[in-house]
Amino acid sequence: MFHMGWFLTTGFGVYGWGGQWSGNVSRDVARPELFMGMAQALEHAGFDYMMLEDSSVLPDIYEGSPRMALKTATVRHDPMPLVPLIARATKHIGVIATAATTFYPPFLAARLFTTLDHLTGGRVGINLVTASPHAAAQNYGLDQHVEHDLRYEMADEWMQAVSALWETWEEGALQLDEQTGVFADHSKIHRADFQGRFYKTRGPLNTVPGPQRRPVICQAGGSPAGRELAAAHADTIVAAVVGVEAMKEYRDDISRRLIAHGRKPQDAKVMFLVNPVLGDTDAEAQAKYDRMVEARAANVEGFMAGLSYTSGIDLSQYDPDEPFPDLTGRVNGHQSTMQDYQDAAAGGKTWRQVARERAVVESVPLVGSPATVAAQMDEAMQHAGGDGFLIANPVTRKSIAEIADGLAPQLRRRGLIRSGYSYDRFRDNLLEF
Ligand SMILES: Cc1cc2nc3c(=O)[nH]c(=O)nc-3n(C[C@H](O)[C@H](O)[C@H](O)COP(=O)(O)O)c2cc1C
Repeated sequence: MFHMGWFLTTGFGVYGWGGQWSGNVSRDVARPELFMGMAQALEHAGFDYMMLEDSSVLPDIYEGSPRMALKTATVRHDPMPLVPLIARATKHIGVIATAATTFYPPFLAARLFTTLDHLTGGRVGINLVTASPHAAAQNYGLDQHVEHDLRYEMADEWMQAVSALWETWEEGALQLDEQTGVFADHSKIHRADFQGRFYKTRGPLNTVPGPQRRPVICQAGGSPAGRELAAAHADTIVAAVVGVEAMKEYRDDISRRLIAHGRKPQDAKVMFLVNPVLGDTDAEAQAKYDRMVEARAANVEGFMAGLSYTSGIDLSQYDPDEPFPDLTGRVNGHQSTMQDYQDAAAGGKTWRQVARERAVVESVPLVGSPATVAAQMDEAMQHAGGDGFLIANPVTRKSIAEIADGLAPQLRRRGLIRSGYSYDRFRDNLLEF
């Protein structure tokens, strides 16, 4: 059996603006109902979690302008207030929200996520990211963002600080004894007095420990520094690598790192990013896939604008029909993501060729009817030995139905995904198998 998650690529954003199957998008802007309905559908389908991406910028690196970002409605609302609304509409599915360690003071994060853990009944998770755009750092008062590997050192210390705060209330500190009138035993509540290189926090938390005490920790960085952070702290790791061999290498590498951190390989679930293309028949799905590839090649400007955001470099200076340049050493953004495109461009391919072939980072291409795609996923997972897949399709009601009502039942028929939830809390379900 494997786990299923859905990665919402622009968090509490706007999906499918101008698209053929998102005609109600103007009614959905900044509303929770689409996401609440999605959570219900995914829970019905047996998903472990939804993960809300986040970033604090209106992307404007490309051309120094938000023109391209607004063409695709790339706005993002704060995901945190959406979390309890999603939880309210469901009973079992986990809800992971992204927090940039660089911008959240540890006390604010520890208190916020404890509160969300209560409001979700023990179903919240944090996607730990370091964030990359300089503009995001400037929104929080820094002159520019911190260098890539130093960000991860900070994130590791941030996790230690936040964990220290979560531990300020010992097990059993909360008494809630109306007979004796003891709400909490003060002798079991301590200061954290955490003092690191980057963060300092006193504690104790002034919140009652959440049902999970420590929310599920998710990590997304693929560079060696990112993988180390994951091995030290994560319960689930989301990976964007291409091909079953790379998937296997990733899982094996994470297992080795977990063991080095005194943990067991099964303590963290590695989930691989996929974008299944589904049709009523294999031929229909293939035709749809071919159209998507052509549309990507035609929208090379959108591809370059997107990559400007992830790399931090204004790529409007390049001609899309010139070879993809060597950007090694110039990326302070998502290094492993850029390396992947760099590899795809080997042999002098142009931007347009890379856009056509590799505009979407997905671990394995999945194209076909729901039954065919379920078989493809089965085979890939058997070979790679990971723990599950993270769907990154556009969030439209049509694509939610394709996955939840088409693909998931086929996976269940093969005995590959859960048919119910054994536990109330997110981590317990995640670690069940
Ligand atoms: C599935 C997935 C989700 C991610 N979500 C976010 C996010 O919400 N916010 C963010 O700033 N970065 C996000 N990232 C980027 C990672 O934090 C990281 O920067 C990227 O994977 C490159 O890894 P590296 O920086 O370790 O090279 C995500 C990456 C992946 C693969």
